[in-house]
Amino acid sequence: MTAVAIDGPAGAGKSTAARAAAKRLGFLYVDTGAMYRAVGCHMRALGLTAAEEQRVEEALKGLEVSLRFSEEGQRVLVNGEDVTGSIRTPEASRAASDFSALPCVRRFLFDLQQDLARRSSVIMDGRDIGTVVLPWAQVKIFLTASPEERARRRCEEMRAKGEQADYGEILAEMIKRDYQDSHRAVAPLRPAPDAVLLDTTGLSLDEVIDRIVGLTKQKGGVTA
Ligand code: DC
Repeated sequence: MTAVAIDGPAGAGKSTAARAAAKRLGFLYVDTGAMYRAVGCHMRALGLTAAEEQRVEEALKGLEVSLRFSEEGQRVLVNGEDVTGSIRTPEASRAASDFSALPCVRRFLFDLQQDLARRSSVIMDGRDIGTVVLPWAQVKIFLTASPEERARRRCEEMRAKGEQADYGEILAEMIKRDYQDSHRAVAPLRPAPDAVLLDTTGLSLDEVIDRIVGLTKQKGGVTA
């Protein structure tokens, strides 16, 4: 079994590159951010805030988050309901970042994430995969890009989908979320000491995918 851990800030291009690299390698692509989004949205729908840690912990007892994998990629289910399409809003990003700072939420998703990597070769992306979830991963990559480049890419993505995008607002929101994710007490966003740093500013998507596949072949002993 080979595990590739890809961590980095929002908008660094982790998911697009990781999904394509996993496809090339025949690995499962696991997007852990989607799990935090699903939990965050569920808690918000229950009317809870991240300040109510005990009530969140209680609510987790009745919660089942599961993933389904198909040719089209990963689907996220919350108590059996497919929420994949509804967790991509700015509110969901905020809820994910807020609730992901709670230790009970991280514990809740930890087993599920580890279990997936024990069953298949994976490329897993998130914030703490190389440091906490899969410290034994053969390949660890910390993917980053300047905040301006990340905000620019996010704007392009949204406009391509016909959505309105305000560059200044997106940049400010991204900087705020990075700060929150890097400064929390539990599992903060930071590169593992043995991670390869990959700055994607100025690189094309294909170049990033090639680097991930190349590193996996080199360090993960994959010959495919
Ligand atoms: O990767 P993303 O934007 O979908 O992640 C949403 C939020 O979830 C992110 O702001 C921080 C949190 N997250 C986390 O704390 N740990 C992970 N492994 C993945 C995401």
